[in-house]
Amino acid sequence: GKSGYDHYMLKEIHEQPRALRKCLRERVDGIDGSVDLDLDRLDDADRIHLVACGTSYHAALYGAQVLRERGVPAQAFVASEYDRTTLAGETPLVIGVTQSGETADTLGALRTARAAGAETLAVTNTVGSTAARECDQALYVRAGPEIGVAATKTFASQQLALHAFALWHSADSIDPERIDALRSLPDQVQSVLDDADVESIAAEYADSSAFFFIGRGHNHPVALEGALKLKEITYEHAEGFPAGELKHGPLALMEDDAPVIALVTGDGERARKTLNNVKEVQSRGAPVIAVTDGRLDVEQYANHVLTVPETDPTLAPLLANVQLQLLAYWIAARLGRPIDKPRHLAKSVTVE
Ligand code: F6R
Repeated sequence: GKSGYDHYMLKEIHEQPRALRKCLRERVDGIDGSVDLDLDRLDDADRIHLVACGTSYHAALYGAQVLRERGVPAQAFVASEYDRTTLAGETPLVIGVTQSGETADTLGALRTARAAGAETLAVTNTVGSTAARECDQALYVRAGPEIGVAATKTFASQQLALHAFALWHSADSIDPERIDALRSLPDQVQSVLDDADVESIAAEYADSSAFFFIGRGHNHPVALEGALKLKEITYEHAEGFPAGELKHGPLALMEDDAPVIALVTGDGERARKTLNNVKEVQSRGAPVIAVTDGRLDVEQYANHVLTVPETDPTLAPLLANVQLQLLAYWIAARLGRPIDKPRHLAKSVTVE
């Protein structure tokens, strides 16, 4: 059942600390600072393609970034756009990221890759799924069953599993601080859930004409995911952009009844540039809801601030995303939408 929650989605959002702990268990070792995934070494994989749809594509975009940062050339593709020409004569390792393991578009992309001689890995939540059976190897994200059509805990678990994969694949030495940050993540997600205070903001903005999400670097996939979640369950118009793209067009959309949700974590160059984008938005009269760890002084340019704890910059998006999930949830609740079963959508899409 829903364990006292009004919807499976809210229950599953709250299950994230447990899901993430399970994802890490016996894989990320705090004592000897290593990552062990029980996979065969992928020796030929000097280049990686990730294929996925929807929310899983956002996890794939994130995973590709973490891999690239570890020195592994990696690129994410929307599965339905992946074909022989994308492979361009190369045989990369192809990772299918799919919660259900049954998404036709993703299975199709994996079959295309295999037909071209590529090695394949399924990153999935579903043991024995078609993706797990058809790929050479499977890495389970261990989020547990997800009933809500909108993916929540499985997205977090996919990101974490891909992060662990990136560290494992690029073997050499893993910074002990990164291991600590990974191991602290479940408790930090719990603290975001415990301290969350999104309902009143959701009530204030539920009738907005549109919602825009901006993020840079590791926060970019989560900006896309925040918009997808919101549109799925509220039926309102939402779009995510790389923060820097705003001035190349979308700035024309800024209005006082269309909030911009800005992800500003850390105090590095990306965060500082994003803060500049926040200023541009605010001076155009759009309300700003900032999700921040408070390392930069975002507060003076934002109408509202949603706080997350400090962590490694590569893990901050997983914390910020919890606030975005709750924002989508509470706006949908306010609008009286059927949150667990949005119109026109299915949990598993088995047609191309
Ligand atoms: C979004 C959502 C969909 C799925 C997509 C891929 O909340 O649920 O966008 O993420 O259909 O599904 P899987 O991961 O099962 O391949």
